Amino acid sequence: MVLGPDQDVAVAVVGTGARSVIAQHVSAVRQGARVVAAVDTDEAGRERARALFGQVPVHRDHRALLDAGGVHAAVVTTPDDTHADIAVDLLRGGVAVYLEKPLATRLEDADRVLQVAAETGTPLYVGHNFRHAGVVRAMKEVLDRGEIGEVKTIWVRHFVGNGGDYYFKDWHADRRRTGTLLLQKASHDIDVVHHLASSYTRRVVGMGDLMVYGDVQDRRSRAGETMPDWFSYDNWPPAAQTGLNPVVDVEDVSMMMMGLDNGVLASYQQCHFTPDYWRNYTVIGTEGRLENVGDTGGGVVKVWDRRREWSAAGDREYPVAGVTSGHEDADVLTMTEFLDHVVDGAPLTVSPVAARAAVAAGALAAASLRDGSRPLDVPPLDQHVLDHFARTSRPAPERTTR
Ligand SMILES: NC(=O)c1ccc[n+]([C@@H]2O[C@H](COP(=O)([O-])OP(=O)(O)OC[C@H]3O[C@@H](n4cnc5c(N)ncnc54)[C@H](O)[C@@H]3O)[C@@H](O)[C@H]2O)c1
Repeated sequence: MVLGPDQDVAVAVVGTGARSVIAQHVSAVRQGARVVAAVDTDEAGRERARALFGQVPVHRDHRALLDAGGVHAAVVTTPDDTHADIAVDLLRGGVAVYLEKPLATRLEDADRVLQVAAETGTPLYVGHNFRHAGVVRAMKEVLDRGEIGEVKTIWVRHFVGNGGDYYFKDWHADRRRTGTLLLQKASHDIDVVHHLASSYTRRVVGMGDLMVYGDVQDRRSRAGETMPDWFSYDNWPPAAQTGLNPVVDVEDVSMMMMGLDNGVLASYQQCHFTPDYWRNYTVIGTEGRLENVGDTGGGVVKVWDRRREWSAAGDREYPVAGVTSGHEDADVLTMTEFLDHVVDGAPLTVSPVAARAAVAAGALAAASLRDGSRPLDVPPLDQHVLDHFARTSRPAPERTTR
């Protein structure tokens, strides 16, 4: 479905919790696009919908939205375990889908969504907004200019300082809802590792544990609340947190190693009880290395390309553009990419195939870490699905053999 440049785009928001504010960018980024309906299964969510999106019809579930008709596209910001079923129903109903990451919590569900998108031809986009973050663009530009030669290894350290508040006080802490924080949180970084390496993960190994939050016994349901309601930098140290989700069974330290199709080796480490909240990437090539210090506006990407002992300064540095906190700038670019795709048929930078590659690596790494760190291989996608998305996306990493 390509709507054509002069046509108005009627957009629905499905799941009106903390993240649904991204739908407020709809009318700002595309003339003629506006939010015309909302959906939430919870009364508190339906109240929020009215506060956020005004006097639009608010439905109790996405099937009621489909029955009512009149929407071209939907922004789906529901919990992770609901993504696949909602996306499949909307795609079959001819509604273009902006689906929040992760694409799904299980690889078979991710594949099901891609199959239906290929079968129906309805546009699908997965909101991997981190691809559009200034720090990622700056690192990619260094690599594309060849400043460090050929990329060989990528190491990511993820200090999730806000982890207690973001991921352990509601459904995120429950494996049945998220599967693993290697999907919920790390899917961004796995996608960026693939983007920087120009290749997808073939084999993973994981190791991790629930080390701090499992011991916090002060638990309660947060029904009717959303994350900003309980966020505070005063919630420190992590063991002093209160009001965690009744079920806490996701790991708070997760580490994974990835072997990519083109031979690049990558690692990702995630800890949810650090004092600071940011990501640190190191990319090492055949002629140098880069590393970011800070991951929002005000940060820098440093490059070292001469032999020496240690040097904190590096040989040169590039500023990271964008907002100094959060990712609103990347959200605007992401929503623009989605609407340009739906209206003009513009090719996607973030292909759903890349979103599937992130789910595959994260889900299999979690399976590995819960099974004695057994190495697991990513199964290939059906060729006709790959072919479909090759037609709607910019050239993707090659699945080359070594
Ligand atoms: N890309 C990013 O930077 C980013 C940032 C935050 C969250 N997210 C993603 O956004 C999604 C939502 O996260 P959140 O923090 O807003 O969660 P949330 O709990 O604040 O909101 C989820 C909302 O969905 C509603 N809901 C639950 N099941 C539903 C269903 N079947 N149909 C309709 N509504 C339903 C809930 O009542 C709630 O209002 C998650 O998948 C998360 O990974 C992405």
